[in-house]
Parts: sequence; structure tokens; C-alpha cells
Amino acid sequence: MTEKRYFIETWGCQMNEHDTEKMAGILSEMGYRATDSVDDADVYLLNTCTIREKAEEKVFSRLGVLKKVKEKRNGDMIIGVAGCVAQQNGGDIFQRAPQVDLVLGTQALKQLPEMVGRLHGHQGRQLNVEKDPDNHLFPSHVPKRGTSIRARITIMEGCDNYCTYCIVPFTRGRERSRPWQDVVNEAQRLAGMGFKEIELLGQNVNSYYSTVNFARLLRELQAVPGLETIRYVSPHPKDFDREVMETLRDCPKIATNIHLPAQSGNSRILKRMGREYTRELYMEKVYMIREVLDGIPFSLTSDFIVGFPGEKEHEFWDTVTLLDEVGYDRIFSFAYSERPGTGAVKHADSVPQAEKMYRLKILQQHQLEIQKERMGGRVGKTANVLIDTVKPGEEFPLVGRTRDNILVHIKAEVGSPERFYGRPVTVTVTGTGLHTLRGELCGQDPIEHLWSPIAASVG
Ligand code: 5AD
Ligand code: SF4
Repeated sequence: MTEKRYFIETWGCQMNEHDTEKMAGILSEMGYRATDSVDDADVYLLNTCTIREKAEEKVFSRLGVLKKVKEKRNGDMIIGVAGCVAQQNGGDIFQRAPQVDLVLGTQALKQLPEMVGRLHGHQGRQLNVEKDPDNHLFPSHVPKRGTSIRARITIMEGCDNYCTYCIVPFTRGRERSRPWQDVVNEAQRLAGMGFKEIELLGQNVNSYYSTVNFARLLRELQAVPGLETIRYVSPHPKDFDREVMETLRDCPKIATNIHLPAQSGNSRILKRMGREYTRELYMEKVYMIREVLDGIPFSLTSDFIVGFPGEKEHEFWDTVTLLDEVGYDRIFSFAYSERPGTGAVKHADSVPQAEKMYRLKILQQHQLEIQKERMGGRVGKTANVLIDTVKPGEEFPLVGRTRDNILVHIKAEVGSPERFYGRPVTVTVTGTGLHTLRGELCGQDPIEHLWSPIAASVG
């Protein structure tokens, strides 16, 4: 009998990418092997995102392509939809795309083996969009991780904020956190296996609470031997308090890219969005961060939505001026997309699509100007970088990220570049692109040369 194969396509956030690692691990334990060819996958899963309408449409157009592949194979292929589209649409997916055999909700990953087994037993289409309050306790040895440097760890799931534009509380459920001892044990196990970087995951990662808070958890992780960097996504501004910032100041392994999603720079729109802060309170948080992290390189980034229902032109300009006032290192900006079942659906005063796109373009162009200047300011400074990719033969063969999460391409003229894989190095920044830096290794033999303390602030 030939070996069965699987293919998983992933859209959306890091949480979804990690769910893919979990499903890949489950399928491997079932004896499946990964394939990178659509045509020979026996199980083909789409791990989907529904944050904006476009993301959802892409899934259905992909299902159209897979229908043809399945027909070519006379139906001998399992097509599954997992992730947020599955959770949101449930069994309706079978109506819209009858070629689908399996709909697996965001909290049903552990059911995958049984459901695939029933499909093999010709027991008809399989659907599970049940809520599993213990989904976040997924066995940690199962995920099949892509690299041997960076490993993701789910520390919490869900969202209780109910921002009025957002589908996440409906697709990922209420907040629940994993016991902190479990997280620390998992980090120790991964460090023992040689992983150098861990990325803590949660839809509101810094709302983590399980007898200790997020700041305390970070301090525990700082003490795990063998780890070089501890990252975390995705945070909410309300949980970046002084205690978290002091932890970042005191613990050199914790990443210092502060993602502070503002969504809008106008207080009336923020209220409509249900964000529970005004522009002024948001700015106070920025000042607090700058004060506590004074002397430590850090970056500030944000998400923005333009064209939220009722956003007047002058209110949009408040978002543009917020970019100047804060001086972000990078932003992620989106045109508002109405999501079924969310609080904002009740507002009838929608902004025309063309106007949304116009505002988006203005915002993005404005940020690029700010970004050019900020990136330029890094030239000549030093940075600590963990090498996670090596491309022998290229002019800049070493690739890694600074502590504050900027990608750096590094020249390495001495010896073979492979020896730097997974190693921390100190780099002098020699040039910039819009989102990335170029650099050169500091010192004679940078591997002998431990990370040097860096004083210059880029905040
Ligand atoms: N429309 C547009 N953008 C959205 N986001 C979340 N929901 C929507 C929506 N309905 C954006 C927010 C969030 C990021 C992940 O996606 O900016 O921070
Ligand atoms: Fe997309 Fe949000 Fe679901 Fe992540 S949690 S996959 S961003 S809808």
C-alpha cells in the first residue's frame, strides 16, 4: 500500500500557522507524509481566515480549483476546511462547496484523526465546530515545527474584548490561558531540543493570566537556559502596563518590538469601535513606554482600520496625524470590511469603497515617508541578531531579526556562513530598505564575540 499524503494551505495569523503545525503533527502521527504537490495529496486542508471579506473569498475560489483536482482523481481525495471560515460558516460550507468532505472548527483539532477515519470508512461528510474549553491545552509534543530555531507555543486562546469590527471572539471563543508551569516546562523542553527562540501565541497574548500574569510569565521564561529570544503575538494595548515594560527593560531575551494596535487616531471612532481608550490615553501609554524603555532599542508598530462606518474625513486625518505624533516603525493598515454578526453591522453610515481605498493609500504613503526616515536613523548603529536563515553564495548570506524584530541581511566574508546558523551575532547596520536592514558582522570572530550591550535608543 502506498503511503498517504497531506497538504495544508494556510491563511491568516501566526495562531493559524501554529494550528497548521498542530494538524501536520496529528496527520504525521496517523502515518501521513507531507507533500508539496496538489495532485498527489490524499488529504488537502485549507486552514482559513475570515478577518476580512477578501480573505474569505480567497478560500472559496481556492475550493473551486480543488474541485477540479478532485474530479481528475475520480473523487479519491479528502478536502477539508479548517480555521476561522470553518468555525464561522460551519455546515453551510457543504452547501456552497459540495466538494468539501470535512469542516473542522478552530477548537476541534484534536478530533481530526477520528473524523478522517470516519471519512475513510465512508461514513459521510464530517463536521465539528464544537467549543472545546481545553483546546489551548493541546499536547505540546505533537506540532510539526517548520524550523529548528524558532518554536511557537500557545499560551492563551480567545478574545473577550468584542471590538465592534472584529470577528475573532466569534471564531476563537472566550479567553482562556494555559497554566504557567506548563508553558515554562514546554519552553525548557524546546530549549533542550536546541530551539533558540520561542514565540508565545494568543489572540490577546498579553491578557494572559493563570495564577501569574503576563509579566511574571516573561520573567520565568527569561530564566530558561539555552533560549536567546522570546517573542509574543498578538498583544492588546490595554495589557501593556508599566509592569510589562519594566520586565522588557530588565530581561534582555524578551523581544522589544511593541505592537500597539491603535486602529484609529480619533476618539469618537475609537469609542464606536469599542476600543476603551481615547487618543489621549493611547498617547499616555506611548509616553510611558518611552520613559521605561529609555536607553533600550525598541520599535513601535500598529494596526489601523480606515473607513470604519461613520468615519468623517477630518476623523480620518486624526489617524494620519497620529502616525506623526507616535513615529511608528511600521504599520499594518486595512480598509474596513463588514463582518457578519459583529457590533458594527448596526451602523448604516458606511464609507464608500472608493473613499476607503483613497484613505488607505494616503495613510500608507504617509507612513512610508516616516519609515524611510526612521530606518535611515539606524544606519551606523549596532544591533544583536539571531541568525535563523543562511543562504550560502549570496552577498548577504546571513539573515535574522533584531531584538525589536527588524529583518537584517548580513555580509559574512570569513569562513563558511553555515556555522552562524542559530547563533547570536552583533551587527553594524550599513544600509536600509523600507522594511529591512543590511549589516556587517562586528569583531574579528563574531561567534566568539558575545552580544555586546547596546545603549543607543531608536525609540
Ligand atoms: N475590517 C478591516 N480590518 C480589520 N481588522 C480586524 N477586523 C477587521 C475588519 N472587520 C484588522 C485590525 C486588526 C488586524 C489583525 O486586522 O486592524 O488589528
Ligand atoms: Fe484570521 Fe483572526 Fe482567525 Fe487569525 S484569528 S485566522 S487573523 S480571523
